[in-house]
Parts: sequence; C-alpha cells; structure tokens
Amino acid sequence: MLKNKNIVLGVTGGIAAYKCVDLVSRLRKKGAEVHVILTKGAQNFVAETAMREISGNSVVTSMWQDIPHYDVEHIALANLADLVLIAPATANLLAKAAAGMADDMLTTTLLATKAPVFFAPAMNSNMYENPVTQNNICALQQRGWHLIPPASGHLACGTDGIGRMPEPSELIEAVEGCFRPKCRSMAGLRVLVTAAGTREPIDPVRYIGNRSSGKMGYAIARAAAELGAEVTLISGPSALPVPPGMNVLQVESARDMRRLVLDAFSSSDIVIKAAAVSDYRVKNTSDHKIKKNDTELTLVLEKNPDILRELGQLKQPQQILVGFAAETQNLVQYAQSKLEKKNLDMIVANDVSNPKAGFNVDTNLIKLLKRDGSIEEIPLMSKKELAYVILSRVMELKNMNGAIE
Ligand code: PMT
Repeated sequence: MLKNKNIVLGVTGGIAAYKCVDLVSRLRKKGAEVHVILTKGAQNFVAETAMREISGNSVVTSMWQDIPHYDVEHIALANLADLVLIAPATANLLAKAAAGMADDMLTTTLLATKAPVFFAPAMNSNMYENPVTQNNICALQQRGWHLIPPASGHLACGTDGIGRMPEPSELIEAVEGCFRPKCRSMAGLRVLVTAAGTREPIDPVRYIGNRSSGKMGYAIARAAAELGAEVTLISGPSALPVPPGMNVLQVESARDMRRLVLDAFSSSDIVIKAAAVSDYRVKNTSDHKIKKNDTELTLVLEKNPDILRELGQLKQPQQILVGFAAETQNLVQYAQSKLEKKNLDMIVANDVSNPKAGFNVDTNLIKLLKRDGSIEEIPLMSKKELAYVILSRVMELKNMNGAIE
C-alpha cells in the first residue's frame, strides 16, 4: 500500500523522536519514499546524519538550506507529499499549526500541503490534557487532520499517564489505512461486536477477570466501520482508545454485557462475539471490602448466562452469528462442538496456547469453521489484518444467505 508513496515525516522536539529512525526504516521496507523534516527541537534528539542515511534522502532542517533536488524549496515537500506524518508532534507544533503559523519548514509545509496530514502527539500528560492543547487538536481535526492518539504508560518525564507516542508499527497501520482502497462492502449493514474480558466482582475492590485486551474485537469493529458498516461495539474494560465512528458501550460483568447485547441483537444483521466472557461469577459477593484473616477464603462460583448460546436460540435466518472459541487443546473438536451447540454460522477457533496468538498480543492464529463442515486455516497475522479476513468470510456467508432468502 505504501509502495512508491512520498511520505513527508515531520519530526518535532520530543524524546519519542528517537523512535523515528525505526519508523523511517519500516516505511522504507514497505516501499515508501521518506522525506524527513527535522525541526530545531528535533535536532536535539535525533541526528540529521542518521535520518539521511536511513531515509536515503536529504533531510530538511531549515527553510533556508539549499537542497539541490527540491524546486522552490519551501513548498517543494508540500507539493511532493502523498501524505504528511508528524511524529512525535509536540504541544508547541500543534499550537503553531492550529494558529496557521509558518515560521519554519515543517509549519510552512503543513500550511501549503493538500496531502492528508496525520499527527501523533507525544508529551507529558498534563500538557496533553490541558484544554489549550485539546482545543488545538480539535481545531486540527475539524480541518480534516487525522489524530493518531497517544498511548498511556510510563512517560519520559517520570510520571505515568497518557502521552506516549504509539509504536512505529501502529503509526504505519494508521498511515496505511489512508491508502487502502475505500471499499464499502458492508455499507447498510448493522454489525454488533463484543470485545475484551468481563469482570465479575468479588467485593467492591476485587474481581475475577481474564487476560483479554480487546485487541481482536476492536480490530474487527474498526474494520467493519472502515468497510462502511454501522457498528456497535460492546466492550468489557480495555485500555485501548475508544475507536471513532461507532457506537461504543462499556460494560463490566457478563450480566451487563448480556443485557446490552440482547437489546441490540434484534436490530443487528451480523453479530461477532470476540469477548472473553466469564463463565462463572461469585455467588457470595460482599458489599464491603473483604478483610483478610488467618483462615482460608472460599468463594462460591455460580454459572453465568451463556450469551452466545442465547443468541443462537434467538437468531433469525437472515442474521449471521459468529462466535470465537479460545482453546488450549483439541482446538477443532471443541470449536466444532461450540459451533453446533450455539447454533452459529461460523466460529473462529483460536489456539491460545501459541504465544503469538490469543490473549493480549497483536497477532493471532486461527482456523475458521463453518456450518458446511469446512475448516479454513489462516496463517499467523496481525489482528488488524485478520479482522479483514474474518469479515470477508462473514460477507461470503451473508451474501449466500441473501441469495437463499
Ligand atoms: O482481546 P484480545 O487480547 O485480543 O484476545 C482475543 C481473544 C483471545 C479474547 C479472542 O480471540 C477470543 O478467542 N475470544 C473468545 C474468548 C472466549 O471466551 O472463548 P470461549 O471459548 O470461552 O467462548 C466461546 C464463545 O462464547 C465466545 O464467542 C464468547 O464470547 C461466548 N461466550 C462465552 C461465555 C459466556 N458466558 N457467554 C458467551 O457469550
């Protein structure tokens, strides 16, 4: 998707600038031509020489430098760009861009370009959350710029919070989305996706949970929205940013999830249940924090409702119902039995014993089992790519279903 695309990368003065060497290298491996602009601040964090070597192109560090192969130097990159990416984008750069300033090569390029602009803010969390910065981000988004939201975690300033620049692989995913052919194969369809794990309370501060991060379900919801579907995402607690362009409902327990899923089910054309729903909940929950003592603590667990099984019973012929099966052994056999018992159209059999698959990793390894007895093995790939594969098989079923009606 990035082959022969001219990506102008604006690097501003933040510690995350060091990640840009890797970013440029990855962009080039994907076939992109990368043209780097380093602001004055960025030059404190990353060397021009390194960027020149890794990008294979001259690096622009000043509006007044003479760069032989760029015509009308100060707007040459603005015209050349197929896409401009600013990573990391400091609060200062966002403020200048929002105000329309053009006092260096990067801001001048931003003002002059007609190419899509993506920006990845990275800064201290107080600076990021400051209403001034948020207003600037809002203004830039209203102008059609694309925000790549910062991640949360440990920041260079020594605090924890939001403000980390996403990893180069995530920046590239965002940029690639811009060049993906805009296929609206799911336009007009209402898709319900569940994601992440549920939490079953023990007392007001403790719960039983699982390792689901929401990555698989969120990727499916995002891909369905990208393909034009009207998406409702019902999610257990997840650290992932709320995906834009869809109705997102947050829940905690399996019973909360069941209530919202049942509400949305009858108006959904396609339901994909990627959530890791707790099979059991605590029977004897305490209204107060359980105090520790010297004896054992026994929790009695009772069965939670099987939401997917209920949906299978309610399912109408025109609806497509897809479940997941997270297994550590007898993958196909157990998945097959869930496909039948829960009256599904397809089940995504997920070998969660593989360290590159299943819970809380970016890749997944699956087999797709359908009602006609077919089993398709899908090679290991990122959850984001896999989401499109799953949806393409869902659409085959939906189209066959439509033909039968
Ligand atoms: O979120 P990630 O970190 O990206 O991890 C992804 C994943 C491993 C969670 C995902 O790929 C996955 O396998 N999800 C299903 C996990 C699971 O609960 O599997 P299960 O075999 O226990 O359940 C089978 C199906 O029944 C699932 O579709 C589940 O949503 C559903 N179910 C289960 C129990 C229950 N009480 N109600 C349900 O609806």
